[in-house]
Amino acid sequence: MSQAPDNTTKPLPKHVAIIMDGNGRWAQARGKDRSYGHKAGAEVVRPIVTACSDLGLEALTLYAFSTENWTRSNEEVSTLMDLYVMYLESERQLFFDNNVRFNQIGSRDGLPPEVLDALDRMKEETKHHTGLTMTLALNYGSRHELTLAAKSIAKKVKLGDMKLTDITEQTITDHLYTAGLPDPDLLIRTAGEMRLSNYLLWQLSYAEFYVTDVCWPEFTVEELQKALAAFKGRTRRFGGVV
Ligand code: FPP
Repeated sequence: MSQAPDNTTKPLPKHVAIIMDGNGRWAQARGKDRSYGHKAGAEVVRPIVTACSDLGLEALTLYAFSTENWTRSNEEVSTLMDLYVMYLESERQLFFDNNVRFNQIGSRDGLPPEVLDALDRMKEETKHHTGLTMTLALNYGSRHELTLAAKSIAKKVKLGDMKLTDITEQTITDHLYTAGLPDPDLLIRTAGEMRLSNYLLWQLSYAEFYVTDVCWPEFTVEELQKALAAFKGRTRRFGGVV
């Protein structure tokens, strides 16, 4: 009989990215409206941030609102915007107690002023923290991010600040919202869908994917541990041969 391999000493990912999906389905399965699911989903963020910080991870990036999510009803969008403001206010102490640095990626265009204020305040107040970097992808779309990077590089070339021949993969990386963060090595998606949904398309090139049927409001630290254990069991080849 073959024994299961001992992966306990294998390294953890440095950067975990999560697509927090299934709030709506979870609520509807309970006869509740979608907002109920988002509120329950917001409660789950705290234990996950705390666990990632306790585990000594470098970065955690959560997909909170995509550039496509504006097509949802006004009521749902407004519930979500209120939740982000409430979250950033209520979790301030957690970020201080755990030395967590807060960061946002995504466009500022279209975000309500109170959301922008809350994001800016949290970013400023935690900028010297040296523990986990917790990034909210808010009003984020990867194709938009790549388009902005292309424009910014083209402008530098046009102005003579950069030579065409100097453009490398690193140049692209440095012009993304995520500049300075390591690429995610693990992507977790809840609620079972097998797609990327315009999330970190460049940065996830070599990430391991872990998809669970558990909806985000029921994603616990134990579920996170299962994803980390699965990651440890993977053989990462980065296109090479082991
Ligand atoms: C996807 O579920 C989730 C979102 C679009 C929003 C994510 C927001 C939260 C988890 C709550 C707030 C977060 C913070 C950081 C305070 P869905 O609505 O697409 O679910 P469905 O696919 O079942 O409809």
